[in-house]
Amino acid sequence: MKNNVCGIIMAGGKGTRLSPITNSANKHILPVYNKPMIYYPLSVLLLNKIKKILVITNKNEINSFKKILGNGSRFGVKISYKAQTHANGITDGLIISKKFINNDDVFLILGDNIMFGSGMSEFFNHIWETDNSTIYPYIVSDPERSGVVVFKKNKIDKIVEKPKKFISEWIVTGLYFIKNFDLQLTDLIQPSKRNELEITDFLSNINKYSNLSFKKIGRGYSWNDVGTFESLIECANLIYNIEKKQGLEISSPDEVAY
Ligand code: G1P
Repeated sequence: MKNNVCGIIMAGGKGTRLSPITNSANKHILPVYNKPMIYYPLSVLLLNKIKKILVITNKNEINSFKKILGNGSRFGVKISYKAQTHANGITDGLIISKKFINNDDVFLILGDNIMFGSGMSEFFNHIWETDNSTIYPYIVSDPERSGVVVFKKNKIDKIVEKPKKFISEWIVTGLYFIKNFDLQLTDLIQPSKRNELEITDFLSNINKYSNLSFKKIGRGYSWNDVGTFESLIECANLIYNIEKKQGLEISSPDEVAY
């Protein structure tokens, strides 16, 4: 069934691993080389041809984002803002956005997830046609820092949030395509040990009671979760090197929109 697809960028939270900077500035407006962090997930949404976008952030930080992104008209899209009162988890972001989402399917992306590579709009083109919610696994060397997906016979067997013991090298990146009819499964989610409505619990339920597809992010794509000083500088260096070598911009929403 074809549906419209709206986009959500999760840009709240405390960003404690980047304190003290994040005591006064929202993590997602910090520079990653020459652009504010949020430009990168925004560019993914623009490349996906999504025109209706919601930025979820902390109440007193909405204005900082408005100064950078405005109402989206500069990028040919409509950007709205919503305050998340507590860091209740990614699934909570979907719950509080029900009115905004209405009957649409949703492409949700975490504001600190930076993905780029050639052919990205083709990679995500399936969102306009698929009948299944979809995750985008990626191989990393430190899976214990993320949600992890275990495959069995080329199907999703289980999804576990930050498993202490190694179960798989495939992690669930912070990009999620959710069909509208699966949103009702958010009702089943209970707070985790860290008191969050975990996206991995929600995805496990989609896998159990509905259909969850996956599209692996393969070779040639870069994916980073830039929540620490180390990952921030690594990612900034990567972007700097590629931009300098090619003289082309990576994830500039103005350019993507143009
Ligand atoms: C969150 C999700 C996790 C996912 C990660 C991707 O982790 O809970 O499943 O793999 O984002 O960046 P958090 O940033 O809350 O630790």
